[in-house]
Amino acid sequence: MNEFKKLTNEVGAPVADNDNAITAGPRGPVVMQDVWLMEKMAHFNREVIPERRMHAKGWGAYGTLTITHDISRFTKAKVLQPGAVTELFVRFSTVAGERGAADCERDIRGVAIKFYTEEGNWDLVGNNTPTFFIRDVHHFADLNRAVKRDPHTGRRSAQNNWDFWTILPECFHQVTIVMSDRGIPASFRTMHLFGEHTFSFYNVKNERCWCKFHFRTQQGIKNFTNEEAAKINGMDREYMGRDLYDAIERKDFPKWTMSVQIMTEEQAKKHHENPFDITKIWRHSEYPLIEVGVLELNRNPENYFAEVEQAAFTPAHVVPGIGFSPDRFLQGRLFSYGDAQRYRLGVNYNLIPVNRAKVEVSDYHRDGAMRVDGNYGAAPAYAPNSDGVWTAQPDVMEPPLDLDGAMYRYDPKDDPTDDCFRAGGALWRLMAEAQKQVLIENTVADMASVTENIKYRHAAHCYLADRGYGERFTKAAGLSLNKVKALSKLNHAGLVQATLASSK
Ligand code: HEM
Repeated sequence: MNEFKKLTNEVGAPVADNDNAITAGPRGPVVMQDVWLMEKMAHFNREVIPERRMHAKGWGAYGTLTITHDISRFTKAKVLQPGAVTELFVRFSTVAGERGAADCERDIRGVAIKFYTEEGNWDLVGNNTPTFFIRDVHHFADLNRAVKRDPHTGRRSAQNNWDFWTILPECFHQVTIVMSDRGIPASFRTMHLFGEHTFSFYNVKNERCWCKFHFRTQQGIKNFTNEEAAKINGMDREYMGRDLYDAIERKDFPKWTMSVQIMTEEQAKKHHENPFDITKIWRHSEYPLIEVGVLELNRNPENYFAEVEQAAFTPAHVVPGIGFSPDRFLQGRLFSYGDAQRYRLGVNYNLIPVNRAKVEVSDYHRDGAMRVDGNYGAAPAYAPNSDGVWTAQPDVMEPPLDLDGAMYRYDPKDDPTDDCFRAGGALWRLMAEAQKQVLIENTVADMASVTENIKYRHAAHCYLADRGYGERFTKAAGLSLNKVKALSKLNHAGLVQATLASSK
């Protein structure tokens, strides 16, 4: 007998031979009674689970959030009280590429953080940009279909991307960011992270305010050019995952400074635009960053599938002191993630160790596929019950929220305060000359295969955001400035009409 650890089958019985199938005679066929072989093959056929519909390619790490400043006047969340140190798991991702896609693509980067707090898990599921393409949940599936593979060719399509992005003018700010020098971060460690949506806080007096979450990299911002990224993708498609893993292994732990922006309910009522529209930002000059703490990543997962692939986040997971907002996009996400994970991982996905809360869970949910714990044993299965177990906790009730207006399908473009180009224009004016040049070059390169009608639509948007932006893009794309100026005078419906495929 050798000294190696013993091979067993799936129920622990010793396996005698892992190399030679049982055959009828030395040169004969395999027999059914090689049950170890059948078990191996059957398991292998079931090893692939559905990939995330978007954000399929990702990397994860564990770490901590340490609270260094006092924001108890805004929130009673224990995870955010001074001195609190909370364990967390982060998954970084690209959005459009599939599970095997290269890391260094021009795309936004997802950042999903699971805080294992003493009041249950809080998931903050954000990106590396402070804003988003779209704002109505109806458009989410379409956005992903536009950036993913074309149903006819099976290939990614710049034409589809730009057609969709330019028909919805609210995409403009995010498109400007994605085409800018920040469109390909050099590392997950060298980018800022944002919660993006407006969320709410409430304090011990049950007073509500609105908030946005920011995590600014302490490593400094660093990006790749198109040329650098193309070279790296050709050599190492897992570059960003390797970079994060290696940094943690050499104890060069990446850190981010956590801050919040706060808006009172009164300020929100008087804000110059809809503060709950994810395509808008809150200016730092009006709502300055308030420092909260430090997020550090300091431990690599042991097993990629168990911990990274099976990690499941949802913005619906909040803890007392942190709440949602009327942001219609956030509201849509509250349904979507849990539903996706029940499909991808099964109804008991929160029993998977990486997803499991560190505190006792008492939710009455019973049974279901892969219920692998004790299933609450003999405890009552219904509530209310006379045993008085697991009663609701009214002391964590959120303050009521006043709403006004009739139920209706409101188009934000009908809101007179709505301006889809203001933020993109302001960003252009903030850019140094070299950044402007890179933005124009990247946009022209990205649109190289796109039809002229769509280029004109984008040029008109650039012009509406800032004349300089419009003129520079128009010239670089070889378009007529007179035509762009004329298009920019049309209303949204007119511009779309004038730039339909038939008008090219
Ligand atoms: C209505 C809008 C949205 C819907 C319906 C939606 C839906 C989804 C779904 C279904 C997944 C895959 C979940 C899974 O299979 O585990 C996902 C992943 C993700 N989404 Fe969204 N999403 C929306 C908007 C956003 C926004 C605005 C952000 C950023 C602020 C965001 C960030 C992410 C991230 C980071 C992931 C990857 C999570 C992970 O690493 O497991 N999504 N989204």
